[in-house]
Amino acid sequence: MPTDNGLQTLFLDGLKDIYYAENQILKALPKMAEAVATQEVTDAFEKHLSETEAQVERLKQVFEILGQEPKGKECPAIDGIIAEGEEIIEQHEGTAAIDAGLVAAAQAVEHYEIARYGALVAWAGVLELSDAAEILQVTLEEEEATDEALTELADGGVNQAALGESEVEEEDAEDESEVESEQDDAAR
Ligand SMILES: [Fe+2]
Ligand SMILES: [Fe+2]
Repeated sequence: MPTDNGLQTLFLDGLKDIYYAENQILKALPKMAEAVATQEVTDAFEKHLSETEAQVERLKQVFEILGQEPKGKECPAIDGIIAEGEEIIEQHEGTAAIDAGLVAAAQAVEHYEIARYGALVAWAGVLELSDAAEILQVTLEEEEATDEALTELADGGVNQAALGESEVEEEDAEDESEVESEQDDAAR
């Protein structure tokens, strides 16, 4: 590795930031998966939960390459993004808009991760840490694929379904199947 001119410190701090973020995401995703009404969206969140578990393991490998213990550094940005997702759950759980709201909230998380991993891959390259760059690149591509899958869900019916909100809101929307049948009725 070239002599440290600050970039190594930036790289290590960036790793700690995203390690913290991934661990917060691990806690948030199950709550999000539970709050949504559509099975497809639940499946997408659960799929990304298991990917995130593997991403945390990859970060541990990168810490090891650097000869460092895996350690998180508090990241107010991800805390804020996750808090906004929790707000969506509080305000919209049980309505037809919950899925649209949480898909968008999840995309905010993905975009944050893509920005972080993008920089880390580039810095690992400059620091001649090619193994680390390769490992981080795998995760970067996973985050990008997740973002695209979420866009497809949003455009493929989730946003449109959110228009049914006012009708569903008046009903007792606690039961998910009831919400779905309301939407089916509205479509007829
Ligand atoms: Fe991630
Ligand atoms: Fe992600």
